[in-house]
Amino acid sequence: MLGVVVLMLQYDWRLCLAVSVVLPPLAVATTLFHKYGMKAYRDLRAQTSRITGAMAENIAGVRVAQAFAREEENLVRFQQLQGVYFDRFLVVARLFHTYLPFVGLVSGLGTAIILGYGGSLVMQRAITVGEFAAFILYLGMFFGPIQTMGDLYNAVLSTAASAERIFQLLDTEPQIRDRPDASALPPVRGHIIFDHVYLRYDTTPAGTWVLRDICLEAEPGQIVALVGATGSGKTSIISLLARFYEPQQGRITMDGIDLQTATSESLHKQIGIVTQDNFLFTGTVMENIRFGRTDATGEEVIEASKRLGAHQVISRFEKGYATPVAERGSNFSAGERQLICFVRAMVARPRILILDEATSAVDPHTETLLQGALEKLFERRTSFVIAHRLSTVCHAHQILVLQHGEIVERGTHDQLLVSGGHYAKLYAEFVRH
Ligand SMILES: Nc1ncnc2c1ncn2[C@@H]1O[C@H](COP(=O)(O)OP(=O)(O)O)[C@@H](O)[C@H]1O
Ligand SMILES: [Mg+2]
Repeated sequence: MLGVVVLMLQYDWRLCLAVSVVLPPLAVATTLFHKYGMKAYRDLRAQTSRITGAMAENIAGVRVAQAFAREEENLVRFQQLQGVYFDRFLVVARLFHTYLPFVGLVSGLGTAIILGYGGSLVMQRAITVGEFAAFILYLGMFFGPIQTMGDLYNAVLSTAASAERIFQLLDTEPQIRDRPDASALPPVRGHIIFDHVYLRYDTTPAGTWVLRDICLEAEPGQIVALVGATGSGKTSIISLLARFYEPQQGRITMDGIDLQTATSESLHKQIGIVTQDNFLFTGTVMENIRFGRTDATGEEVIEASKRLGAHQVISRFEKGYATPVAERGSNFSAGERQLICFVRAMVARPRILILDEATSAVDPHTETLLQGALEKLFERRTSFVIAHRLSTVCHAHQILVLQHGEIVERGTHDQLLVSGGHYAKLYAEFVRH
């Protein structure tokens, strides 16, 4: 295009000047289109994410929706989302289909000006007919690309709005990252200290804490049980220990090393966690069990599984240890998933073991089986156990009772029963049922 401009200037600068009057409106239109088009495309993309989010949620929660007969309602909501999407799409379409014809109009106007003015110049014999004809041809070469660019520009805006969202995601800083001077944790013995620890989450209202002034000490090899009502902060304590979150105040040390000065990887290599909603990956049962230590041999896996009483259950699966795991392990019952995860934790040979309501989905009989095996699993490991069935926690070396994020009682099972506080009440209720 620059070449065309130079050529046009060579022919006649007066004609060029005449054409240039159409450039300011073109620039203004393009600037406006850039400003409003970008915003419209951003809105459109945001709505697209809402729709995909709703779709994923509806598919994942299809059973709940069915069970509560919410299909109609969910459909209506989805249609509302679609409606908004439609409106936003219209905004984009209107903008673009105003801009593009405007560009066409302006270039038409430019040609008209040249025809009129150039025509009069030819009459005055200031330029020849040949020059005039050539100029008009060049003019076509000048405006042609401008129109094509209008089209391209639309694609650029749309892509830029999408790219913006991708970069936002890529630029998200992880909340917990290793300090620049972090060093790997050496193999630990498992001596854990919480020193006046306070925690609040991003969404916790200011002025309140999820955990307040938590102090605890676990000797290597000890079993620490956390007891308390739902929402009292048990899982939060464990999330701190695994450094999924960091405390706002206070320190957590492992063998005297502040967790914040260690690398997360070296910490996680030494921690095994089993929770109530365990995650299985697609692959085989065996692959899932070896997840924490890929060099474990098949014999080791079977040996661990036998000791935990999971071998029988796994052998009953269609292909035993080679049974494929469907997405999220949906082809197993919750209890079977928990058993697999127990074996996974045992095979990983962690120094620190965390069980967060890990036996909530297995039947009492299996739980008793696990119980015996767990005692072996607990040996020589520092363990943190959260369980609602108090039979699981009464052997712990220390029991911490939590209430609204504070430790309100601590001691062994016998000590706590004697003192007759919250734990004694909980236990009485537990025994009665
Ligand atoms: N990721 C989170 N973000 C915000 N608040 C949370 C988060 N996890 C837990 N909470 C809040 O912290 C409190 C304690 O939760 P939690 O430690 O999971 O309790 P428990 O395991 O004892 O049932 C609850 O009030 C809960 O709403
Ligand atoms: Mg919990």
